[in-house]
Amino acid sequence: MYSEEEIKKAAKDIINSEKIVVLTGAGISTESGIPDFRGKDGLWTKYDPEDFTYSRFLQNPAKYWEMSVELAEFLLTAEPMPNPAHLALARLEELGKLKCIVTQNVDGLHQAAGNTDVIEFHGNLRRVVCIACGEHFPHELALEKAINGELPPLCDNCKGVLKPDAVLFEEPIPRHALERALQEARDCDLMLVIGTSAVVYPAAELPRIAKERDSYRASLFGFSSQSRVLDYTKGAKVIEINAEPTPLTGIVSDYLIEGKAGEILPKIVKEVEALLGY
Ligand code: APR
Repeated sequence: MYSEEEIKKAAKDIINSEKIVVLTGAGISTESGIPDFRGKDGLWTKYDPEDFTYSRFLQNPAKYWEMSVELAEFLLTAEPMPNPAHLALARLEELGKLKCIVTQNVDGLHQAAGNTDVIEFHGNLRRVVCIACGEHFPHELALEKAINGELPPLCDNCKGVLKPDAVLFEEPIPRHALERALQEARDCDLMLVIGTSAVVYPAAELPRIAKERDSYRASLFGFSSQSRVLDYTKGAKVIEINAEPTPLTGIVSDYLIEGKAGEILPKIVKEVEALLGY
C-alpha cells in the first residue's frame, strides 16, 4: 500500500523533470469498469489468449467475432468513461508536465479524458480494418453486421474480412507507433509506468530503453549497442504505479507506488499543482 511520502516524492520527481512520458496498460482502465487481462478477474481468466492470435483469427474469423462481440459490445455500448486516473494525466498535460502517453490500451479513454498526444501501441478497438484492402471503418458498423449474423463482418468496399484494428498476438506493432514510442522512451528523463504487468513485448521494453537511453537494449530494435552491460546510471527515472509488483520492480523502476491508479494519480497531481503554486 502506498504512503504520502511516496506521493510527495513522485510529485517532486515530476517537477524536476523536463520530458515526461507515460506508459499505460489495462490497469488504468479497470476503474472505468473495463477488465484487465492478467489481474485477478482479468480477461485471460475467462478466455484463452491463444484464441486472440492473428493466425487463429485467420483460421476462423467468425469465431473471433463471436468472442470479441462481448468485449466490444461492452466497450461500445456501456460507454465506459475516463476515471480519475485518466483525468489526472490530462491535468498533468495541461500543467505542461506530460509530453505524451504510450498506451497499450485500445479503449480510447486517454483521448476522451483530454490528452492530445496518445501513441496507440496496440491500435484501437473503436476502428476495424479490412484485411484485404486496408480500408478502415468505425467498429459500430462491423459490430452491427456481426450482431445481425454477418459472421465474419465483410468490407462494404471489397467484401474482404473486417478485423478490429487492435493488434493481435503475432501481429506487428503499427510502425509509426513503434518508432514514435521508441524515440519518446529514449528522449524522456522521467517515465511513469501505470497499470501494466510489463510482461508483453515490445511495450515492456520501453521502460528499459528509457532507463538505458539508447545503448544496450536498443539493439533489440536493430540499433547498434554500445555495451552489453546494463548501465542504469545515466538513464531516465522510472516510476511504477501499479496494484502489484511487476518484473520491472526493483530492477528497472526506481520505485513502485503500490495501489489503485485512480487514487494515487489524483493525489500526485494535487501535490504537483501545490508545488507549481496553484
Ligand atoms: N490501479 C493500478 N494497477 C491496476 C489496477 C488499478 N486500478 N487494476 C489492475 N492493475 C494492475 C494489475 O495488477 C496488473 O499488474 O494492472 C496490471 C494490468 O496488467 P495486464 O492485465 O497484463 O494488462 P497489460 O499490462 O496492459 O497487458 C499488456 O497484453 O493481452 C495483451 O494486448 C493485451 O495490451 C495488452 C497487453
